[in-house]
Amino acid sequence: MIYANAHDIITDDVFVALPYLSRRADVFLKIEGFNPAGSIKLKTALGLIEDAERRGSVSVGVPVIESSSGNLGIALSSICAAKGYPFTCVVDPNTSESAIAHMRALGAEVVTVRKTDSNGGYLHSRIAYIHERLQRQPEMVWLNQYANPANTRAHYERTAKNLLAGLGRIDHLFVGTGSTGTFVGCASYLREHSPHTRIVAVDSLGSVTFGAAPGRRWIPGLGASRRPELCRPELAHEVVHVPEEDAIRECRRVARATGLLVGGSTGSVLAAIARREEEFRDRPRVAAISPDLGDRYLKTVYDDDWVESRFGTVRTAETPCLVGAPEGG
Ligand SMILES: Cc1ncc(COP(=O)(O)O)c(C=O)c1O
Repeated sequence: MIYANAHDIITDDVFVALPYLSRRADVFLKIEGFNPAGSIKLKTALGLIEDAERRGSVSVGVPVIESSSGNLGIALSSICAAKGYPFTCVVDPNTSESAIAHMRALGAEVVTVRKTDSNGGYLHSRIAYIHERLQRQPEMVWLNQYANPANTRAHYERTAKNLLAGLGRIDHLFVGTGSTGTFVGCASYLREHSPHTRIVAVDSLGSVTFGAAPGRRWIPGLGASRRPELCRPELAHEVVHVPEEDAIRECRRVARATGLLVGGSTGSVLAAIARREEEFRDRPRVAAISPDLGDRYLKTVYDDDWVESRFGTVRTAETPCLVGAPEGG
């Protein structure tokens, strides 16, 4: 297959069965990390950029700015490099060094804000920096993933459509929430095209998106210290808040059980499924979205010293499985 651009390489039809996770359900993980930007955010980035192009606000030479915990920044760096748009990404100390190096290698300017906001996160600080920068450089275009409907639309038109087409029937969907674009896009699509699907939004403990108490978080991707404007909580049948330790444990468990190294937010989604597993009846088909792979987390989620210094204990694959080994396994 020949592609005109690296950012045209989107794999939206890859699923892995996870029989180890449940005896009562068929669980499928939609793998979003097999593209050159390495995450689901390539679809978000393309949606945001193409929308800005349609409106005429972005063209060659016009500087673009966005706030990201890493993945959207990498995807935008890739697209902006190919299109000739100077790109500035505003990140925080939870963004991995490799994500920052990746963006810089693609020609982006990366600015790290270090001030935690009153909710223990950095989102307010990242956005405050963007406002300040826009004052100084009014020609810059802020894509604003947190409020831009083009974010949601990308997942309505691509992620959700391909999810349902690929699996045929989905009884439960577990989906993580950061900007909430994936959740709102997928939930809107499934409520129209598969109304029986039970939608579970998965957030990090410490995130305020669904009105829970703020707290310190370390793993980029899920959660926010300020509710994204896009969020529509009424689309979820249930919200599960997962402590980051549980996400780490599930990342390590799926790695040992299947050979698949997944990113931190995938661990959160799998932890939410494990938590609800006993309630599954009549062998449902359960879908979960894996936004990225684990190579970006080797120095965090998969590093014993990093985990020990933040969470006190290292939970390994030896931790007893919540549901035991698969039949005949
Ligand atoms: C690894 C990872 N998981 C989950 C998400 C959340 O996706 P969304 O912003 O669409 O809610 C992100 C967003 O950056 C991410 O990078």
